[in-house]
Amino acid sequence: MSIILDPGLTLEMGRRSYVNGERIFNPTGLRAKISIANFSSIAPNLTIIGWDHFTHRITTYPFLNPSNRSLYPAIAELEDPVTLGIMKRGEVVIGNDVWIGQDVKLFQGVTIGDGAVIGACSLVNKSVEPYTIVAGIPARPIRKRFSDDEIAILQRLRWWDWPDERINDLMTALNGTSVAELEKAVEEDARKRAAKEAAAKELLAQANEALAEGRNAAALEASQEAIKLSPDSGEIALALGSAELNCGQYEAAIASFRRATRLMPQRASAHANLALALEHNGKTREAFQCATMALAYERGNIVAMKVRARCHLILRQFETAEEFCRKILALRPDDADAETILHGIVNNRATRLPNATCAWTGPALV
Ligand SMILES: CC(C)(COP(=O)(O)OP(=O)(O)OC[C@H]1O[C@@H](n2cnc3c(N)ncnc32)[C@H](O)[C@@H]1OP(=O)(O)O)[C@@H](O)C(=O)NCCC(=O)NCCS
Repeated sequence: MSIILDPGLTLEMGRRSYVNGERIFNPTGLRAKISIANFSSIAPNLTIIGWDHFTHRITTYPFLNPSNRSLYPAIAELEDPVTLGIMKRGEVVIGNDVWIGQDVKLFQGVTIGDGAVIGACSLVNKSVEPYTIVAGIPARPIRKRFSDDEIAILQRLRWWDWPDERINDLMTALNGTSVAELEKAVEEDARKRAAKEAAAKELLAQANEALAEGRNAAALEASQEAIKLSPDSGEIALALGSAELNCGQYEAAIASFRRATRLMPQRASAHANLALALEHNGKTREAFQCATMALAYERGNIVAMKVRARCHLILRQFETAEEFCRKILALRPDDADAETILHGIVNNRATRLPNATCAWTGPALV
């Protein structure tokens, strides 16, 4: 949602919050920062109230304004309250799950607590406690939405920070009226989630064991089941990709490894295996980039070094290819892949083909 902000305003907007009418008013142009946290609903015509003039002085007239200063140069001899910080009331902070009714006016510097409600046409000049309904000019508390104990529970649960999937699972309780029922539903949901996590972990262990033993079909089956239970697990995405790669399902492997890199952006083996799958699918350029990324996270990643060596060989960059092979052999003296690439270098050096050819040395395990 793009919200039109009157000049002077800056806005930091949390997840799923919205401003109906998509505009916040600031008639005086006062410089003010507004932050709105998650899942808050703002009705049309929210307005920020402008500067304070000085009520403790004889005159409230703004002699300090630049346009008046030239006319009354003597004002320069007075201390500027703006630089003294006197006029700054601070930013407007709107919490989570706040509902602000239409035509509300907010003073700068107010904080609206989580779960609070501001009645239509109210003028809010004081901060509002969490889960309190206020209304009127000036806005005064009408009532609290829940008991103090219930409010404490809601503030502990912080449902507005949950992932959408969890919010969806608890939608009935969130739209109910009983905090005790919500708390019960949350506990039940946590139990179910823990059981699911444990089952996914067990399947991941089975998949990794099967991969290590070369039982690729079993690894594929276990990791496919695991990812259904735990779709946000990078480890499972990595195991699934490896099983798919070993079973010859290259497009699927690329997708799984991409998912693993998204979920574990700094995990070298996710990038290295993605490079391997891409290389196997003929996407040399992207494979090269992913292998480079893997090596940035882990200098000695063997899989990434092999991909880089083969890419350099194909590009007829024989010296660099050889350098990578030497590095691999320094780490693993009998590595058959490195030997194959070295043979490839010898064979291809003699040819004048634009691209060298390279024996595919088969998928590597995670
Ligand atoms: C505040 C609000 C949510 C009502 O809350 P409520 O708990 O049901 O309050 P009640 O209607 O029982 O009113 C309680 C008291 O507050 C007063 N009150 C309620 N809303 C008020 C308002 N916006 N301004 C001033 N007084 C208000 C009532 O007159 C009543 O006063 P009384 O006790 O002296 O009779 C509702 O009045 C409101 O302002 N809703 C906003 C609607 C809106 O802006 N919608 C568009 C955006 S989606």
